[in-house]
Amino acid sequence: MTSVVGPVTVRVPASSANLGPGFDALGLALGLYDELVVEAVDDGLHIDVTGAGAGEVPLDETHLVVQSMNATFDLLGERPSGLRLTCRNAIPHGRGLGSSAAAIVGGIVAARALVNGHDRLDDRTAFQLATDLEGHPDNVAPALFGGLTIAWVDGAAAEVQRLDCDVPVTVFVPPTPVSTEAARGLLPETVPHSDATFNAGRAALLIAALTGAPERLVNATEDRLHQSYRSSVMPESYQLVRSLRVDGVPAIISGAGPTVLAFARGIDEALPAGWALHHLDVDAYGATVRGATADSGAA
Ligand code: HSE
Repeated sequence: MTSVVGPVTVRVPASSANLGPGFDALGLALGLYDELVVEAVDDGLHIDVTGAGAGEVPLDETHLVVQSMNATFDLLGERPSGLRLTCRNAIPHGRGLGSSAAAIVGGIVAARALVNGHDRLDDRTAFQLATDLEGHPDNVAPALFGGLTIAWVDGAAAEVQRLDCDVPVTVFVPPTPVSTEAARGLLPETVPHSDATFNAGRAALLIAALTGAPERLVNATEDRLHQSYRSSVMPESYQLVRSLRVDGVPAIISGAGPTVLAFARGIDEALPAGWALHHLDVDAYGATVRGATADSGAA
């Protein structure tokens, strides 16, 4: 057993997927963080959660961080006899800001650090495991690597291209969640060729806009593949996106919603009553580790 002595602390960022036209492919790491503290103990599983999800998430083996840690221990072929896990969550759940990706990536990175497994489980393998656990790569990629990510699956292999990106972000977070499963269920099996063509061009433009041509962001964030189909389960969010865009603000639904993300500042007056607002920077680092004996940063 090579478990490190003492606690390991992992900080993992929120993320926004899709970014308008880049459905199931683009992701952006955001400077809003969950923090996990994990420690090997003699026996048992001890979980404490504060912040988002407290009182709602299970405090047993089905906790998403624990599931991810156990999957990582299985891959590494070793595990501590007991675990203490403390989650300090700032990423709201069910709002399209990558809370499940943060839990999965955080669990993998924490487990790897706890057993000094960085040499045996590199970032590429960690990304594959995170994608397998999440079911798609577009949130786990920025959660693990930071920055702007283009992620895809080739056969079963998860792939990612990471890019630097520095753009101001404001998020408007509604008080009630929308399930990703429900939002995905609203998407059609097929779309018009003209809409696919439209999105392909806008997604290409968006990479340019986010990496050096911000004046293109309004055009570059247009979408015809998912947002309008999902409007019935998040009508206020959809309306806010439309009204911000009419005012020339590049606004989109974050991930599967219902959070509204705008690449802008100075728009706080648009905040609907009862919603929360955050001014965020792009996170450049992804999941980071403190307290392990080995350098086990993810990036
Ligand atoms: N690309 C995904 C979707 C992100 O929009 O359904 C949600 O996890």
